[in-house]
Amino acid sequence: MGHGSDTLSLSVHFQGSATHEGTPLFRGVTLDLRAGEWTCLLGVSGVGKSTILRLIADLPIHAEFDGKISASDGQPLSGRIAYMAQQDLLLPWATVAENVSIGDKLRGMRPDQSRRDDLLVKVGLTLHAAKKPSELSGGQRQRVALARTLYEGGDLVLLDEPFSALDARTRADMQDLAAELLRSKTVLLVTHDPTDAARLGHRIAVMTSDGLNWSDPPNGPIPRDIDSAETMQSQAALLKTLRAA
Ligand SMILES: Nc1ncnc2c1ncn2[C@@H]1O[C@H](COP(=O)(O)OP(=O)(O)O)[C@@H](O)[C@H]1O
Ligand SMILES: [Mg+2]
Repeated sequence: MGHGSDTLSLSVHFQGSATHEGTPLFRGVTLDLRAGEWTCLLGVSGVGKSTILRLIADLPIHAEFDGKISASDGQPLSGRIAYMAQQDLLLPWATVAENVSIGDKLRGMRPDQSRRDDLLVKVGLTLHAAKKPSELSGGQRQRVALARTLYEGGDLVLLDEPFSALDARTRADMQDLAAELLRSKTVLLVTHDPTDAARLGHRIAVMTSDGLNWSDPPNGPIPRDIDSAETMQSQAALLKTLRAA
């Protein structure tokens, strides 16, 4: 990890199947994360979205995996990934501000205070900077975790339900912020929410136990307008696909 490396974006190829206690979890999933694009993986809970994301991040999973994951440049992915887990994984003993820049502390580096303060402003937590995570609401905690991920800013950014605990207004604001700050990064966004996908996906895959179904995203750059007819139609179509799956 480590921020600021603006090398050419990375693309990633994922291919494989997973089994959970003898039962197939997903079969023959092929997922290409294109350089500099947001790929949205949309699906109902339990379908294996977090498992795919954790496989790419090389973290332990609750399944057996048969497949392969590779970067386009043939180099290892480790050290180039910023990962935002579904659980916020904030350190309870550290302040909000310290949590945002914890990566630097772990690397034995001095935190970049202006970068951190700027992010705290952007996620609306400046007044809470000195608090401990236990003093925050779930949505505020999720914004700390988002700020920490944006602070890290690896070439490949893996976001697991990053907006799930946010109220509708804050969710829209954080979608805008993430789109702005992760421009030119390769992003995998895992979500159960069609709004996230319709606003942020350059490409959108709906995941079921049978694999991935690619949906046409709305036209236009991201973040797409929340109230444009096209965004709303896409959202509705995705919800329909999810319900039929
Ligand atoms: N903590 C866990 N313990 C045991 N099994 C788990 C655990 N987490 C996930 N699983 C299994 O892995 C499957 C896929 O989970 P996951 O990848 O987290 O799905 P999603 O992110 O789409 O909700 C689940 O349906 C469940 O069978
Ligand atoms: Mg999950």
